[in-house]
Amino acid sequence: MEYMLDTGNVEYIRKAIEYFPIGGITTNPSIIAKEKKDFVETIKEIRKVIGENMLLHIQVVSTNSEDIVEEGKKIVKNFGENTCVKIPVNKEGIKAIKILSSQGIKVTATAIYTSQQALIAAKAGASYVAPYVNRIDNLSFDGATVVGNIIKEFKEYNIKAKVIAASFKNLQQVHNVALHGAHAVTVNEDLFERIYSHSHTDSSIEQFLNDWEEVYGKQKIKDML
Ligand code: G3P
Repeated sequence: MEYMLDTGNVEYIRKAIEYFPIGGITTNPSIIAKEKKDFVETIKEIRKVIGENMLLHIQVVSTNSEDIVEEGKKIVKNFGENTCVKIPVNKEGIKAIKILSSQGIKVTATAIYTSQQALIAAKAGASYVAPYVNRIDNLSFDGATVVGNIIKEFKEYNIKAKVIAASFKNLQQVHNVALHGAHAVTVNEDLFERIYSHSHTDSSIEQFLNDWEEVYGKQKIKDML
């Protein structure tokens, strides 16, 4: 399972890709707007920081298929071929997914709440589908089960599209979709920090160092060899 960052925060991305195995960056209009910076400059900066090979998912804001197609093509032309055009799954979106993917453009179908939306988007040619786990949970359905159903259906019908589970509010949701076989999760900065850190790990490290220092003082192994 890949870890992706759901953020437009360039400085966070810069640090995170230095330290962690990050599989891609996802954004949406709300995430970009939160940064209150020039859109084009922000995306260009992100692309520069992550390099030309990492997948960057940029969402369209146009709402009819013709405009979505035009916007999608311009997004890829400006931000590189490893940019996935994120398109919300509705009638106009599905038409645009068909057109763009038939022209070799990578599409991420987004704002998915049901497995049928994922299936039809993948049949239309989407390379990635993004079910919204926490938002589904908030509707009193089980987001992780929806993710699991999508995975099952893709296997059943030999569909190559990958599932990027999105919209998380806690680690348990991330854990549950991992158990269901999600290909990727995309999480914001706050949640990502909680994925790898644990206060008990920190106190274990402290204990190791205290024990070591009692015998060896401040010496480091690298200086003993
Ligand atoms: O990538 C989709 C995601 O950003 C939606 O998340 O937290 O707004 O439900 P959220």
